[in-house]
Amino acid sequence: MPESPMLGPVNFMADLESAGDFEKKHTPHIELSSSGDVTVVTVTVGWDVPHPNQPDHFIAWIELYAGEASIARFDLSPVLTAPIVSVAVSLEPGTVVRAVEHCNLHGLWAAEAII
Ligand SMILES: [Fe+2]
Repeated sequence: MPESPMLGPVNFMADLESAGDFEKKHTPHIELSSSGDVTVVTVTVGWDVPHPNQPDHFIAWIELYAGEASIARFDLSPVLTAPIVSVAVSLEPGTVVRAVEHCNLHGLWAAEAII
């Protein structure tokens, strides 16, 4: 898992089932829906346990990677947007997609799924 010297380490929960509410509200949840060569990747932060969405505590951005390549980025405004984003991708089966989100108070959190 890459480190970001400016934003701190990336938190990655291998076993979300046994994680606490703090980890669950920050770890991205990835859903995949495929049709032909296109897969819609939907990333939700706070899927199981809602994350605050207030001016002083919110999800600032969500990025999506295919392997090490950045393929999409969403900058979010607090209160007016919900931390749920979708993007259609055309990737080879077996490609690992990684969602990374940044909470303005609690740093970077990531999750992975395989196309
Ligand atoms: Fe947070």
